[in-house]
Amino acid sequence: MPVDDDQLQSTKLEALGRLAGGVAHDFNNLLTVIEGYARMLRDEPDLSQAEAVEYVDEIIRAANRASDLTRQLLAFSRRQSAQPRSLDLNELVRHTSGMLRRVIGEDIQLETDLSAEASQIFADPSQIDQVLMNLVVNARDAMPNGGQIRITTAFHDPVVELRVSDRGSGIPPEVMARMFEPFFTTKESGQGTGLGLSLVHAIVTQAGGKVEVETALGQGTTFKIRFPLHWGEAADTDAAATERDLPRGRETILVVEDEEPLRSLIRRLLERGGYRVLEAADGDEAIALARAGKQSIDLLLTDVMLPHRNGRDVAQAVAAAYPNVRVLFMSGYGENTPPGAARLEKPFGPLKLATAVRELLDQR
Ligand SMILES: Nc1ncnc2c1ncn2[C@@H]1O[C@H](COP(=O)(O)OP(=O)(O)OP(=O)(O)O)[C@@H](O)[C@H]1O
Ligand SMILES: [Mg+2]
Repeated sequence: MPVDDDQLQSTKLEALGRLAGGVAHDFNNLLTVIEGYARMLRDEPDLSQAEAVEYVDEIIRAANRASDLTRQLLAFSRRQSAQPRSLDLNELVRHTSGMLRRVIGEDIQLETDLSAEASQIFADPSQIDQVLMNLVVNARDAMPNGGQIRITTAFHDPVVELRVSDRGSGIPPEVMARMFEPFFTTKESGQGTGLGLSLVHAIVTQAGGKVEVETALGQGTTFKIRFPLHWGEAADTDAAATERDLPRGRETILVVEDEEPLRSLIRRLLERGGYRVLEAADGDEAIALARAGKQSIDLLLTDVMLPHRNGRDVAQAVAAAYPNVRVLFMSGYGENTPPGAARLEKPFGPLKLATAVRELLDQR
C-alpha cells in the first residue's frame, strides 16, 4: 500500500518523541547498573571469581538491553529499506514488551502468552517492532477507561501466529471496511494520522504474512497475524560464543576511531585474536601513519564519521599508500558508507568483530 513518505516521516517523528522519554529513563537505569557493577569490580577487595563473573554478566546483559533500545530508536528515525533476517518472534515480543508497557501507560495491563513451539520468521525486526507498537497503541486507544491487552504467539505448522487482543470498543463494520487505508482514522484531528494499520499491512505483507481481524462491538478486538515459519539457522549471537571459538589472525590492522574507550576495546579484542594493531584517533593521524609507510597495513578498520575528515577520505588515502589494503567501515547508521563497501554495524560484540575482520582478510 503506497504511503506518502513525508507523512510517514512525521508519524515516525511523533512516535519517536513518545519513545524518547521512555528510552532516556531506561538508559539511565542501564547506565546505573553498568557503572555500579563496574565500580564494584574495581573496588571490592575480596571479590570471589564467581562473584566477578556474575557482575560481568550483569554488565553484558545491561549493554545488550541498551543496544536493543538504540535499535528500536533507529528503526523509527532512519530512512532505510527493510533488512529481513531470521528472527525468533517470541524473543522479539519479550524484548519489546517493556517498551510497549511504557507507551501504553499504567491504566492498561499488557500480558504475554508465548508458545514454546517454533516461532522463527523471516522479517526485519525493527519493522515487526513497529507492527506491535501500532497494534498495541490502537488497542490502548480502544480502552479509554483502562483494561488489558494480550499478546500471544502460537504455532500451527507451517504458520507462526501473533495475536494482539483488547477488551475495548470493538470495530463497527464501516470502520472495518476502510481501516487499512492510509490516512483513514476515526480519531480527532491531531490524535491519529491513520497510517498505523496501513503500515502494519504493508510490513506484514512484505514478510509474506496475512492480517486477520476478529471483533465484536463493546467486547473487543483481536488482530491475528499469520507469518510463514522460517526454516533456517538462527542468527549468530555473541552470547553463545566463547573467546576460544573466535576466528584469529596475524595480520596488521589500522584502527581509526575517535571515541577513545571504544578504540581501546577494539585494540584489545583484536590483539587477543593475534593481530597487530595500529591506532589513530582521527583521519589526519591515520593518513599520516599510512603515508609514513613504516609498517605494512592489511586492513583498515575505520569509523565512518570522524572529526575533520570522514572515513571515506581516510580509506582513499590509505589505499593510495597500500593498494592491497582491505577496508571495513564501522557505522551506527548505515547510510554513509560507500556503495558496496564492507560494513560493521555498531553496536558489535567480539564475535561480530572477529568474524567481519577475518572474512574480509580471507577475500584477498
Ligand atoms: N483495536 C482497535 N479497536 C477499535 N478500533 C480500532 C482498533 N484498531 C484500529 N481501530 C480503528 O481503525 C482506525 C485506523 O487505525 P490506524 O492505526 O490505521 O490509525 P489511527 O490509530 O487512527 O492513527 P495512528 O495509528 O496514526 O495513530 C482507528 O482510527 C480506529 O477507528
Ligand atoms: Mg493506530
